[in-house]
Amino acid sequence: MDYAEVLQQIAHELAPVIGQGKVASYIPELASVSPHHFGMAVVTIAGEVFTVGDARQPFSIQSISKLFTLVMALQLEDEKVWTRVGREPSGTPFNSLVQLEAENGKPRNPFINPGALVCTDILCTRYAVPENAVVEFLRPLCGNREVHYNRAVAASERRTSHRNAAMAHLMKAFGNLNNPVGEVLDAYCRHCAIEMNCVELARAVTFLAHGGTHPAGQGNILSTSMAKRLNALMLTCGTYDAAGDFAFRVGLPAKSGVGGGIVAVMPGECGVCVWSPALEPSGNSLAGSLALERFTDITGRSIF
Ligand code: DON
Repeated sequence: MDYAEVLQQIAHELAPVIGQGKVASYIPELASVSPHHFGMAVVTIAGEVFTVGDARQPFSIQSISKLFTLVMALQLEDEKVWTRVGREPSGTPFNSLVQLEAENGKPRNPFINPGALVCTDILCTRYAVPENAVVEFLRPLCGNREVHYNRAVAASERRTSHRNAAMAHLMKAFGNLNNPVGEVLDAYCRHCAIEMNCVELARAVTFLAHGGTHPAGQGNILSTSMAKRLNALMLTCGTYDAAGDFAFRVGLPAKSGVGGGIVAVMPGECGVCVWSPALEPSGNSLAGSLALERFTDITGRSIF
């Protein structure tokens, strides 16, 4: 497959919509990012890299970090994770509190904020500096030893993270958070503020296209069965409240973040990442979702 040509075609077709939508502004530091960026990368399990546009410009990975913290939590606790977090789509926005109260402090899935806070809590129990553990997990996976989190973005989110604090306190009241709320929120805001580019993110998810084993020699990340399950969760829950529509249009497991990034997995083939900061109302990159839709339409490949 000539992915170079596919990416060129997508960038050309999407030029008129880049910038449509709204850059996330509830994290003040993210509001100043230009909506006009667009980058996309494909990294195959054979290690070939294809890019277009701003594919090498770092951006705030935000909720894409939830994928990696879940992987780390699964490595530590295996199936026990599911006693504290469910695996059903929530049908509510990623920062909604209503369901959490009605369902006794057990979040519907690990990709909404309360579910991710539980995974971060698991990391807080194991690591003295959990955000550094996430960064160190990512460096070999993405092939960049310089990856780090942006302190200004983390501090900006931490100052305004009232909804996440409310969720964490509610879960603490239900006995579903083991560490102090403040510590979990500090670590969570920091791993959300990790900066990576499209090539690094596409490479970091290649293990999910390769049965849980990192193709570039980083070993077994997850068992084949667990990798299958994670892909299923990404398909059903990875793009917030739009996951049904996204599966319908794109047909690939994916995880998005409000920084405008979306990673997707083509099993047996490649990792993909697209970045364009302006979002549609559910919080997914507007141009990014369209780009992935065109990617599966043009290549004729998806999981279906
Ligand atoms: O907690 C937040 O609101 C952000 N750090 C991340 C939000 C995001 O990307 C969407 N979450 N599922």
